[in-house]
Amino acid sequence: MEEWQAVRALTGEFYGLSADEIGICSCTSEAYNLADLALRLRPGDEVVINDLDFPSGRTPWLQPGSSASVRLWRSREGALRVEDLVPLLGPRTRLVTSSLVSYFNGFRIPLEETLSAIRRHSPAMLALDVTQALGRVPLHLQGVDLIVSSTHKWICAAHGGGLVGVPRAREAEWTVPAGGWFHLEDPFRSRGCEPVASKRGAVSFGVGMPNFPAIYAIRAGLEYIRGVGVEAIDRAVRPLVHHCHEGLRSLPVELLTPGEDASLAGIVAFRHERSEEIHRRLQEANIHVMHSSGRLRVSIHGYNTASDVEQFLEVLARILREV
Ligand SMILES: Cc1ncc(COP(=O)(O)O)c(C=O)c1O
Repeated sequence: MEEWQAVRALTGEFYGLSADEIGICSCTSEAYNLADLALRLRPGDEVVINDLDFPSGRTPWLQPGSSASVRLWRSREGALRVEDLVPLLGPRTRLVTSSLVSYFNGFRIPLEETLSAIRRHSPAMLALDVTQALGRVPLHLQGVDLIVSSTHKWICAAHGGGLVGVPRAREAEWTVPAGGWFHLEDPFRSRGCEPVASKRGAVSFGVGMPNFPAIYAIRAGLEYIRGVGVEAIDRAVRPLVHHCHEGLRSLPVELLTPGEDASLAGIVAFRHERSEEIHRRLQEANIHVMHSSGRLRVSIHGYNTASDVEQFLEVLARILREV
């Protein structure tokens, strides 16, 4: 339990919240499904999702049984523009979900502008998935109503964690009415059929026994990243991301990541019709990028150097001449 408490405090430091405002579940998908329970949507209530988000942030509201009317915030040329969000907002909008940084192409949404549009045009809350940002880019999450993150990306930890942030002011909205025991006020009070009550806010997202092996790894990862410093990582690596983006722009690939400085984080992605072969040949050269559905995704972190990026671009250019 000391480890569990330490992860709550550390996550709070990264999210800008206190330890009490942090809950731990097993993954982002679980967090979003529990969030859906907490929302208790009624027919006609609207949820805005977007096409750059990971499936866990979109699909709870796309199940046939969902009461939500779903509105889609569409990206244009790889970017989510706030002017396209505004017409989707109204008095029935209950929730807007988005990743801070897209798993698909690395686009980082303009958070302040997004939040202020939501506040101006609807009573909706913003649920933000920071999986592709936590540990890689400094976070300024003031005003976000629900924060979720997986634990197997940039914090160098392990699978099996979902870090949930609920600001105290939103505890009532994000109290999960699920069965279980770990999150209940007094689960062993009666062994019968009396009604139960959840603890309020973030802790209500941890419904059963915590995944302690993952929690040890998450603590180690977060402490390591804190020791290096996210600001320092971003300062060191940002020029490499720009260099990678510029290099890819001059190669015959379909670049998926917009190049504006404010929207760049750690990911640069591109498509090519021979992506499978390109991926295999990069791996043979000991260059590890992700490959999925014709898309290759380069993730640049604090352990990368300028020569890693140089080497990647040189090898890729050679492969592209040959495929
Ligand atoms: C933005 C984002 N959210 C969530 C996930 C993972 O979701 P889960 O924690 O439910 O497995 C990923 C990738 O694994 C991701 O890139």
